[in-house]
Amino acid sequence: MDEQAQRHSLWVATTPDFPEYPPLNGDAAADVLVIGGGMTGLQTAYLLKLAGLSVILVERHRLARGTSGHTTAKVTALHGLTYDHLTRTFGREAAQVYAAANVAALDDIVGIVRRETIGCGLERSAACTYATTDDERARVEREVRAAQEAGLTVEFRDDLPLPYETLGGAWLEGQASLHPVRYLKALAELVHGGGCRVHEMTTALDLDEAAALVRTDRGVIRAQHVVVATHVPIFDHGPLSMRLMARRSYVVAAPLPDPLAGMYISASGNHRSVRTQEIDGQQWTITNGEPHRTGEGGDERERYLRIRGWTDDRFVLGQRYYDWATQDVFTVDDLPFIGRYRKEDARVLIATGFKGWGMAHSMVAARIISDAVQRKDNDWAGLYDPWDRSFTKGAGALFSQAAESIKALVIDKLISGDPACTHMGCTTKWNEAERSWDCPCHGSRFDEHGEVLNGPAIRALKSPPAAGG
Ligand code: FES
Repeated sequence: MDEQAQRHSLWVATTPDFPEYPPLNGDAAADVLVIGGGMTGLQTAYLLKLAGLSVILVERHRLARGTSGHTTAKVTALHGLTYDHLTRTFGREAAQVYAAANVAALDDIVGIVRRETIGCGLERSAACTYATTDDERARVEREVRAAQEAGLTVEFRDDLPLPYETLGGAWLEGQASLHPVRYLKALAELVHGGGCRVHEMTTALDLDEAAALVRTDRGVIRAQHVVVATHVPIFDHGPLSMRLMARRSYVVAAPLPDPLAGMYISASGNHRSVRTQEIDGQQWTITNGEPHRTGEGGDERERYLRIRGWTDDRFVLGQRYYDWATQDVFTVDDLPFIGRYRKEDARVLIATGFKGWGMAHSMVAARIISDAVQRKDNDWAGLYDPWDRSFTKGAGALFSQAAESIKALVIDKLISGDPACTHMGCTTKWNEAERSWDCPCHGSRFDEHGEVLNGPAIRALKSPPAAGG
């Protein structure tokens, strides 16, 4: 790693004044318990408080330090090549609902930032999915048609304002970007107080579904509803987890003299995304790529070097920079799960599987969950309901997820002495770049001492080998 690199999130590093919230101190009760202090949890808590409900939000570590603090923070309804996939897999009507939900989410986030006068560098700009090969161009052209049929005002544009060659891209005006940690810092301040409470360093350990009661390491919380907003639902050990997988990718942020017009992602499998963000008068470029299944990345240090090299080759950058990894969760049919944790009971609600599009989808989830708690109809809930869709839609991915789990549960365990994940027992793999044990089954990660970095695991590894073995 370049000696001037800082392996931290730019967003976390440029929000040094994030206040600390006290851990839970004994038993408590509220209308709604929200577990997870990222985009989904804080936005859901904010909407529920606005609706007049009492909310307790608990976060295992610090707020906004998980996926939401490591995102590229593009708030858009254009999601790579999603609309063509949705139309072919679920039909045109499903694609239309998906588009409407994400457009409304974008409007909701912009509305909150303006109404609450949140200083989070909100910028409106176009989103673009671009091609660099003839095959990618054909796929992007199909995406433009599908997105138009879904109701988005997308066009194909040949002359993209990028400083490197492309074969054009799908272009959607009026999207947004922001500083996610500053946005969440403001939301936390709005949620905490007035009958609602935010507690950091408070770990949810067990859920009693029948009683909607959660035991934490700091006390027991009773609520009418429990919202599990933990990226991967932490209490699940089967029905949902078997349909989820996690991928990591790598982000570089460096000073750039001038802003880019637009936010970009390539249509390639080894995707590259780029956008800029002004923070305190400094323009930053933020690039992302090198995705791989968590725990299956080979030497992750090489991936950091490749995304840094790609960035250096295309932009004139200042020397100081940040790099970090981010993690996204995918469902087997590529459609997020938002709604009931169990088919027969709507008191516990979950949101997961946003792929790389968690900014807009976190607000889609906040709306669906907030409406479910208040027993209001929601036009999008049916599309995202985890239990209201055919397993055949993602049969291929479901099969490969099952095969991966069997390999990590049985074969890897026999041939390696690496620690078993405390979620469902898959064999973890050592990640030298981040000095962590990463689980390929559902994305749990543990630091070199075995402490949980990412769920769904709740408990620490038992006796990890010293310094990664
Ligand atoms: Fe599920 Fe490790 S994350 S077994």
